[in-house]
Amino acid sequence: MTDRRPKNGLPPLVPNSADPLYRQVYERFRGAITQGTLAPGDRIPSARALAKEMGVARGTIEVAYSLLVAEGYIQTRGQAGTIVTPDLQPQAPPAAVAPPPETPDDEHGWHRPAVILPFQMGVPALDEFPRKLWARLGARQLRSVQAPDLSYPPSNGLMGLRTAVAAYLQVARGIHCQPSQVFITSGYNHSMLLVMQALLAPGDRVWVEDPGYPPTRALLAQARMQAMPVPVDQDGLMVGEGIARCIDAKAAVVTPAHQSPLSMSLSLPRRQALLEWAERQQAWIVEDDYDGEYRYASRPLPALKSLDAQGRVLYAGSFSKVLFPGMRLAYLVVPAAQVARFDRICRLLSGTAPGLTQSILTAFMAEGHFGRHIQRMRRLYSDRRNATAAGLAAALGDRMRIDPQPGGMHLVARMEGGLGDQPLAARMLEQGMYAHPLSRWSSLPDPQQGLLLSFTNIASETHAHELGLRIKALM
Ligand SMILES: Cc1ncc(COP(=O)(O)O)c(C=O)c1O
Repeated sequence: MTDRRPKNGLPPLVPNSADPLYRQVYERFRGAITQGTLAPGDRIPSARALAKEMGVARGTIEVAYSLLVAEGYIQTRGQAGTIVTPDLQPQAPPAAVAPPPETPDDEHGWHRPAVILPFQMGVPALDEFPRKLWARLGARQLRSVQAPDLSYPPSNGLMGLRTAVAAYLQVARGIHCQPSQVFITSGYNHSMLLVMQALLAPGDRVWVEDPGYPPTRALLAQARMQAMPVPVDQDGLMVGEGIARCIDAKAAVVTPAHQSPLSMSLSLPRRQALLEWAERQQAWIVEDDYDGEYRYASRPLPALKSLDAQGRVLYAGSFSKVLFPGMRLAYLVVPAAQVARFDRICRLLSGTAPGLTQSILTAFMAEGHFGRHIQRMRRLYSDRRNATAAGLAAALGDRMRIDPQPGGMHLVARMEGGLGDQPLAARMLEQGMYAHPLSRWSSLPDPQQGLLLSFTNIASETHAHELGLRIKALM
């Protein structure tokens, strides 16, 4: 078939449209002239040249041109060719569509700059990811692709990956589940979307930790659900407070391994109280276990899901922290009784997790690289955490205090007097350092102040010390 895509910047013609071809040519020129893309006096191609370029009969172009001449948009000037009428009122050029401004924090206190800045949260040590190994596995997967692999992947994920995740969770997080209970998603937000679609309804009230991960609040608001902030103390979510404030919430979203962002673990009595509440109220618990593997002083705690005898807990894990966030793969473990419901929702919202990436990850897990990588990262982060804390303490002395924490991927630094966390974080960003102000993670009155500082990409105490001196100069 003739390709009617012209090289002159005009949109291509639509061969079988209800609009005849001459009309389409006419509309394209008239649009270009009135929008200012073609200016008064601009020369336009001869009918013969344009007909050849567009792959249509010369007569088609001539009919379009004669209409444009009749309406006064163009003039033919014999040997000098055809031009846009010179004394046409100049039209305002089409308004340029400005890209949305890069803001340090969006309305939910979450922003990801294009480059990784010192202290930026949520990014693992990308320099330490075994890229060559990943590339080798990727090449192998690509070479072995068969025709059926090019079809749609299952909407709930490749069975091999779901099996590998179920096996990993059994050993590492104490969770007993069947591969059929594991749903592969493209990130925590996607997992939350599935939960909200499958189990909740607009208007539902949902407990969220305060301070807590801002995107969770934003997702609930987007789904017209009401986030009910419940404070945390040294034992994690204050379940009694949640019950006192909103006993009939339909769900609670919690980070039991390391509370996000303060990093304490949810104590066993609180875990039991939360499960009891959920069972009594027939409410759901979303366990966001985004970095449960990273505990440095002792073995990682079993997941809350491992205590879930009544099938009330949905366990959300992500590969963003343990591998790399660009992979966009995560998983959701749902209670056995809910599998059919999630299968249905997944089929409806399918198509988010590319099969090839899933198959590379399956090989990475099945061949033992995943476990080894986590072990190596745990040692590296323990070192980087100590180095960052020591470097900052040496530079900032008594101007800043660092909370003792058992795990996680960032430090919580408290300023002694002086500037509030939001102006200080804004000044740091101007200087190319990205701290999250703790107060932005809260919606309660009188929020705690502090800086959330990731250490995963700070490679030495010297570097941390140097950054600490730069922060001191801004305080
Ligand atoms: C509290 C919390 N939950 C979940 C995630 C994982 O999100 P995703 O899977 O979209 O990368 C993060 C990442 O920063 C997080 O901090």
